[in-house]
Amino acid sequence: MPEIVVDNLTHTFGKGGAEALTVLEGINLTFENGSFTSIVGTSGCGKSTLLKMMAGLFDPSDGEMRLDGEVISGTDRRRGMVFQQDAVFPWMTVAKNISYGPRLRGASNSEQREIEAKWTEMVGLKGFEDRWPRELSGGMRKRVDIGRVYANDPDVLLMDEPFGALDAQTKERMQTDLLEAWQQSRKTVIFVTHDLEEAIFLSDRVVVMSARPGRIQHIENVDLPRPRKDEMRLTDEFIQIKRRLWGMLDH
Ligand SMILES: Nc1ncnc2c1ncn2[C@@H]1O[C@H](COP(=O)(O)OP(=O)(O)O)[C@@H](O)[C@H]1O
Ligand SMILES: [Mg+2]
Repeated sequence: MPEIVVDNLTHTFGKGGAEALTVLEGINLTFENGSFTSIVGTSGCGKSTLLKMMAGLFDPSDGEMRLDGEVISGTDRRRGMVFQQDAVFPWMTVAKNISYGPRLRGASNSEQREIEAKWTEMVGLKGFEDRWPRELSGGMRKRVDIGRVYANDPDVLLMDEPFGALDAQTKERMQTDLLEAWQQSRKTVIFVTHDLEEAIFLSDRVVVMSARPGRIQHIENVDLPRPRKDEMRLTDEFIQIKRRLWGMLDH
């Protein structure tokens, strides 16, 4: 069964008012259960708006989105979101940050320890459980962010340029590690980025959006084998996809 369906969605900020701004128009998309999809498009084409609506932070002005047939409205832990800016709590250790959601929902101490152990390891922070966020690099704080969202055990992971602020080398390592965690958990991932190489490397499918109002311009299926390896970025097949998509983006 398809996991998320975006059905004829249009979004106009301030609809009906003098300052009305249509940022997304006529979007139809299906995200299959367990798939990894990236969304690319120039700045301002409505990528973050689309993702925030999927998270349930606000409703579209027209059309709807459904998760397993149920209309999405309001936030729910089934849909977890990671932003570019870290959302790590500076007053909690790595472990406490990671178990924050389950603790809020009344998980017992032993359940919390179990979740902390599992997810600190999965995001590559084993040994850093008792560190404070200020002692971590940007990449490590991002790992805490991802671990915390995973610890809520969402069905859908919404990621809005999560690695946008990281240096190239850290970014590549984070991409490989993200794929490894995804391969083990098989959540549905929707990943927004303006980095074409990142989108191709990670995804089963890359959705290219047009400039505002964002429409779907093209959907590219990426058939590179998994697990993805860094060397694949240099293959002809990879570079051809990148060139083709680059030509479609509004520069
Ligand atoms: N809350 C808001 N009210 C009015 N306009 C907004 C709001 N949020 C975003 N916008 C506008 O919508 C457009 C798309 O924004 P956004 O979804 O952030 O684009 P992207 O993530 O693709 O760069 C931009 O022109 C932005 O200024
Ligand atoms: Mg954005």
